[in-house]
Amino acid sequence: MIIARTKEDLRHAMREMAGDGRSIGFVPTMGYLHEGHASLLTAAREQCEVTVLSIFVNPLQFGVNEDLEVYPRDEARDVAIAESCHTDIVFIPSVQEMYPTRPLTSVKVSEITEELCGASRPGHFDGVGIVIAKLFHLVKPHRAYFGMKDAQQVAVIEQMVHDLDFDVEIVRMPTVREADGLAMSSRNVRLSAEQRHQALVLSNVLKDAGFWLKQPEMTVDSLLEAVRTEIGKMDEAEIDYVELMQYPSLQRVPANQRLLEASGTVILALAVKFGATRLIDNALYTIGER
Ligand code: PAF
Repeated sequence: MIIARTKEDLRHAMREMAGDGRSIGFVPTMGYLHEGHASLLTAAREQCEVTVLSIFVNPLQFGVNEDLEVYPRDEARDVAIAESCHTDIVFIPSVQEMYPTRPLTSVKVSEITEELCGASRPGHFDGVGIVIAKLFHLVKPHRAYFGMKDAQQVAVIEQMVHDLDFDVEIVRMPTVREADGLAMSSRNVRLSAEQRHQALVLSNVLKDAGFWLKQPEMTVDSLLEAVRTEIGKMDEAEIDYVELMQYPSLQRVPANQRLLEASGTVILALAVKFGATRLIDNALYTIGER
């Protein structure tokens, strides 16, 4: 496995490993890898000839009062996991390497970035857009793998790829969960035992919502109210947002519309703080199919 720390090293490694046109699978991450990331690397390994992982905690996607400084990092462990997934190249650039000067170019996807995490974290998706655009230019992947826990991020990247004609297939991968249902996240390590226990409300309520939205009288508003009530029973939980939207367009479903009369794919998206740790989770449902 090659570890590249500079763009030049990466270009060199890419020429060596994939210069003859072999298919490239790419998994961009911010490190502190868990089984969710491993599932992306495994899929890339199965579907592509060369697999590339990037590990870069991208400062441009963190707001001023967010957790950039305390974002968990463990490079040695990450490299061992990458190796166990038979990754070919790991790109671990420094901030100086990625952004030698403050970028004057922005990659801004509009509309679908205005709700959910885009509303609570202004500028977040501009940071994701620029780093992913740069990484796609550097790695030139045929396929790039993203977890659906960050469903809005997936929608934003798909839109960017479509609008800017990146020649890459975005592969949506299912959220990987702990045995008790908690969605895997690098941030889970920052939960206390009690917060970790209470955070199970997220996956449980997403499951319950799958039944609730089939009730004949259920409207968007009444569903969201029921979800908020369940989460509110946890004394450590502070709701950032609970939203139901069409996916991937992230258009609102009218609040008083009965869900049985709507149709298509909707996302129930949750962002909830447990102490200082903000967790997100979501589920997609197909509604209105008779
Ligand atoms: O999902 C992440 O870990 C990050 O947002 C990503 C896609 C690697 C961009 O920094």
